[in-house]
Amino acid sequence: MADVELIIDHLATIATVDARGSFVVHRDGAIAIDNGRIVAIGSRESIVASHDARNGIDATGMSAIPGLVDCHTHAVWAGSRIDEFDRRAQGQGYEEIAAAGGGIRSSVAAVRAASDDELAAGAARRLAAMRRLGTTTAEVKSGYGLDARSEAAMLRAAHAGAALADVRVLGTCLALHALPPEMPSAAAYVQVAIEEILPACRELATAADVFLERGAFSAEECRPFLVAARALGLALRIHGDQFSECGAIALAAELGAASVDHLEQTGADGVALLAASGVAGVCLPLCALYLDLPMPPARALADAGGAIVLATDFNPGSAPCDSLLTAINLACTRLRLSCAEALAAATAAPAAVLGIKSHVGRLVAGFAADVVLVDDPDWRAACYHLGEVPARVLVGGRG
Ligand code: NIG
Ligand code: FE
Repeated sequence: MADVELIIDHLATIATVDARGSFVVHRDGAIAIDNGRIVAIGSRESIVASHDARNGIDATGMSAIPGLVDCHTHAVWAGSRIDEFDRRAQGQGYEEIAAAGGGIRSSVAAVRAASDDELAAGAARRLAAMRRLGTTTAEVKSGYGLDARSEAAMLRAAHAGAALADVRVLGTCLALHALPPEMPSAAAYVQVAIEEILPACRELATAADVFLERGAFSAEECRPFLVAARALGLALRIHGDQFSECGAIALAAELGAASVDHLEQTGADGVALLAASGVAGVCLPLCALYLDLPMPPARALADAGGAIVLATDFNPGSAPCDSLLTAINLACTRLRLSCAEALAAATAAPAAVLGIKSHVGRLVAGFAADVVLVDDPDWRAACYHLGEVPARVLVGGRG
């Protein structure tokens, strides 16, 4: 008889990618948890017979899925973009607003003017809301600071907010998000990003990211920044093909990036190149919905053998939505993924993008006890119910 802290018992179904990478559903199951980790998972009879638990959760009528891993967010920001939203509602375009100095640049002005405490409080509030909606691990990008001080302040705020909200957070340095107003040229700013911003963010981030797009940065401008980031040991991410195909996938393949994210405009050649490259395709259906862009070609990418991932892109401009479950729902209704594919794309697959797949994103013995309980005997309710709020969310067995 093993002593454990907690058993979640009487689970009607447990759905997860297993240790070998297969999608499995356990019925009439239980999860034994100790020291923040899963000790045993599977049939309740054998788990209850072999474990003594100090605490129990009776999950009769419920299902368990892994804590969701949101691998693409801009959850640290300041100021408001509601006015811009209203202008877009009246017909102005997202790129038009950005070209006139609004959009990302308006968030940059607000972040630079905010105190560290204000940034951390906003991050904590948003991460707590994400946690209530099932996200137990989030990647958070900088990108609204665009100088060494403010970019590092954003990432420190992400980590401070994570501690307050009890969510796992990984930082990403998105220095090449927009050209800051004080810089004379993209070339000059790329130098600042390499020499000042990357070193200031190195200890706060596990990845670097760029916005490779017309009106933002070209592949030629992104390359030296990404090469410098890789030399510092950071994983590489690329915002690509959101409004136009500008060579993001080819650059990601060339540099061995972890992912290309967005893909709303990716055509058949891009899908084939991405699938063959081994670089993950992160689909952001909430952003496509919100900006009324084409949906990313997730079905074609999956059928071509590519690694498909889902994320919210939670940000004040193009996707003010904190619910990865809603992105999962859109993946089933608009991207033509099955419930199992969508759940894997929001748990095990993003953990791989973030470099944490050995211990996060699956309900498997030895993994972090990050568990979402859904109040339905069929786990697919998590995908089916538009606007689902989980019954309970545990991070490392807490919550
Ligand atoms: O992923 N595409 C670039 N960056 C964000 C939007 C940022 C913003 O509008 O503030 C995105 O959609
Ligand atoms: Fe983004």
